Amino acid sequence: YFSGTAAKPLAGRNIVVTAGPTREKIDPVRFISNHSTGKMGYALARQAAALGADVKLISGPVQIPAPPGVSIIKVESAAEMYEEALKAFPTADAVVKTAAVADYTPAVYHKQKVKKQPGSQVLELERTKDILMALGNEKQQHQVLVGFAAETEKLDEYAIGKLQRKNADMIVANNVTVSGAGFGTDTNIVTIYKKDGSKMELPQMSKQQVAKVILDEVTAMLNGNNR
Ligand code: CTP
Ligand code: CA
Repeated sequence: YFSGTAAKPLAGRNIVVTAGPTREKIDPVRFISNHSTGKMGYALARQAAALGADVKLISGPVQIPAPPGVSIIKVESAAEMYEEALKAFPTADAVVKTAAVADYTPAVYHKQKVKKQPGSQVLELERTKDILMALGNEKQQHQVLVGFAAETEKLDEYAIGKLQRKNADMIVANNVTVSGAGFGTDTNIVTIYKKDGSKMELPQMSKQQVAKVILDEVTAMLNGNNR
């Protein structure tokens, strides 16, 4: 009796989640990456599917199996993630960008393994494109855009800056230096900043519970509340 829209509030909605790190190749044996494990993004994808959404998970290299019922698109670099995210955006109702996208990529990819030389070495890097910013620029009225912000200081200032600069509806921020939060843990301690200026400081919760809170907010926004 309870399998209707109440239990599946995201039924008929297309939700795109990006997760994990990106890898920027230097040569065939080396890359630049970060500590993201994909746990938060995979928890979100699982939760969105449980709430009835059609979920597309655009994932960098992680060790977690795809959640059941979620269609997964595997990518490596920031450039590949950009392509897939922009392709998926027009039909998405909401995009949740948990991925820890590399801000820089090597200016040159060496086709052969770089051999060591005497003395120090400089690696030239160039900026990657900001995916969230690109989506924010293309966002339509009905679409909900959620970004993440991993910070080590000035959480309010940096998170609100990202919310505004990237035209997001919500930024989920956490201080990655606090224990029980951030990379690789099963729990997180986040603060949610919304476009309406509100701020929700959540206690330590499992990443699955954090995913539930975020998606309940997304559902409310999609249904035209607190926008
Ligand atoms: N992001 C993105 N594309 C990038 C960099 C970041 O889509 N090239 C997204 C992340 O997925 C996240 C949000 O932007 O949802 C914030 O990422 P973060 O690294 O915290 O912010 P930056 O704008 O890159 O700023 P900085 O790293 O200098 O703090
Ligand atoms: Ca960054």
